[in-house]
Amino acid sequence: ATNRTFTMIKPDAVANGHIGNILAMITNAGFKIVSLKLTQLTVADAQAFYSVHAARPFYGELVEFMSRGPIVAAILEKDNAVEDFRTLIGATNPADAAEGTIRKAYATSIGENAVHGSDSDENAAIEGAFHFAGREQF
Ligand code: CMP
Repeated sequence: ATNRTFTMIKPDAVANGHIGNILAMITNAGFKIVSLKLTQLTVADAQAFYSVHAARPFYGELVEFMSRGPIVAAILEKDNAVEDFRTLIGATNPADAAEGTIRKAYATSIGENAVHGSDSDENAAIEGAFHFAGREQF
């Protein structure tokens, strides 16, 4: 069945001028954009969005990074969206990311890794609702 995932183009990739190329990779891979905006997380927003990682040693660094500049938030639609999008973005660590993936092309480190992709249908719905009002979801 057609379903949805949620993505962010992270501050590193936005600052480095990769918004257009990353959106092209996403749509060329068959994803339909159903919500899209340029926005910026406050520190409190980033803490809340990543609260599942609060106990991790990299949490402070992650929150600082994700709130330091503009991001692009998007909801994407495709058959098997969550799994297929994680394949398209590649491994968390760009050193392990496969050829042809977004992180292989644009990530600079395990922390500054260019894009986010939801890890489950449940989290995709939660994360999409975090960023978009109902009237912004098409
Ligand atoms: P993502 O999978 O989108 O969401 C959790 C993020 O935590 C992950 O991307 C990385 O950006 C970050 N992260 C994971 N592991 C590390 C790490 N060892 N050091 C710094 N950041 C990390």
